[in-house]
Amino acid sequence: MFAKHVQGRIARQAHSAVPEGTYEEHHARRGFEGEVSQLYHAHPTTDWLRVEGPIRPRGIQLTDLMTADASDPRALPTLLMFNDDIKISVSKRSAAMPYYFRNADGDTLLLAQSGSGTLVCDYGTLAYGPLEYLVIPKGTSYRLVPDEGVEHLTYVVETREPVALPDRGLLGHFLPFDRGVLDVPQLAPQPMDISAENADGEWEVLVKRDGELSSIFYAFDPADVEGWTGSLAPFRLRLADVRPLTSQRLDVPPMTHATFQSGQNWIVTMAPRPMQSAEDAERAQPYHRNVDYDEVIVPLGTHDGRRVGPPPGLMSVTPGGMNHGPNQARLAAARDRLPIYVWNIDTARPLHYTDAFAAGEIPDFAQRESFRG
Ligand SMILES: [Fe+2]
Repeated sequence: MFAKHVQGRIARQAHSAVPEGTYEEHHARRGFEGEVSQLYHAHPTTDWLRVEGPIRPRGIQLTDLMTADASDPRALPTLLMFNDDIKISVSKRSAAMPYYFRNADGDTLLLAQSGSGTLVCDYGTLAYGPLEYLVIPKGTSYRLVPDEGVEHLTYVVETREPVALPDRGLLGHFLPFDRGVLDVPQLAPQPMDISAENADGEWEVLVKRDGELSSIFYAFDPADVEGWTGSLAPFRLRLADVRPLTSQRLDVPPMTHATFQSGQNWIVTMAPRPMQSAEDAERAQPYHRNVDYDEVIVPLGTHDGRRVGPPPGLMSVTPGGMNHGPNQARLAAARDRLPIYVWNIDTARPLHYTDAFAAGEIPDFAQRESFRG
C-alpha cells in the first residue's frame, strides 16, 4: 500500500464538504475500487471545448434503431459494440425464432426494455417481461417466442467468460438480492402452436461458433428433455427484486450495484433509491476518468412507465481515459432520489463500434455530455 499524500486545499473526506469553488475529480484504478487520488480542480473536468478522436463520448437512442430481426424471424440481433470479451447487440424480434439457437461462443444475457414472451429451451420454458434479465449459459439450445401485440426491445450481451454473481463479501447473502429470487425454466409440455417444426417436418439447431453459423437438423423436437438436474441452467432475474444499497451520508460507488460479473467486465443495475441527503454529502457522482473501463450507460425508466429523467434506451458510451461527470443541468437539479433504473456495463477492453452503431448514433453527442451540455 502506498502512503497517502496531501497538497493544497482538500476535503477532509472524499466527496463531502468539498472546498468552496473546487470540483472534486477521482483519478482511480479499477473503477472506484483501486488506488485513488482526489484532485480538487478550479473547473469541472467535463468543461471541454470539444473532443477529437476515438475516446469522444458517443450516444444512440436504441428505441429509434431499426433492427433486421424486427421483420425477419431468421435474423440475429443487431451488433452495436464489441471487443474480445463482450458483444452488445439490440433485438426487436417480434416473431418466434424458427430454430433453436445455440451460442457456442459464450454466455448470453438478455435484458428486456419492453415486450414479453417465453424462453423455450432444453431446460423447459420460462416467461420474461419488461425490466427482466435472462441469463442463458453457453451451449444452451433456446428459442425466444415473443408475445404478440406488444413492442419488443431487448438488449443482448454476449460474454466470452461465464456470467457470474459478484462476490458480495461482508454484505452477506441478501444484498442486492436473495439468490432465491432467481427462477429457472420449468419442464412442461410445450404448446404445439409455438413449435419450431419447419415446412419439411424438421427441427433446426442454429449454432454460432467463432462467429460462424452452422445448422443441425432433427426429425424431432430436440428440446425433448424429460428431466434435468445440475447447477448450469438459464435463469431469470427481475429488476424489481434488486434492493439497492444506499447511504444517507455519501455517494455509494457504482460498482456496489454490480449484478453480474464476466471476467474483468461488470454488468451493473442501479435501481431506484433515495440519494444521499446529508448536508455535507455531494449530491452527484464525482468527476472521474475511468481509465480501466469503457463505460456504457442505458437509462431503463420505471416499472410503471412514468416518464422521468432521460428517455429509456438512450445509450451513452464513455471510453476509458475520457473525463466523465455530472453536467450543469444535473448539478442544478435537486436530487433526493434516483427515480429510474439505470443499466451500466463496464468493459475492461476498449469497445469497437459497428457500422450499425455509427449509422444510428446521435451527432455531436460529446457536447451533450459536456458540463455546458
Ligand atoms: Fe462514469
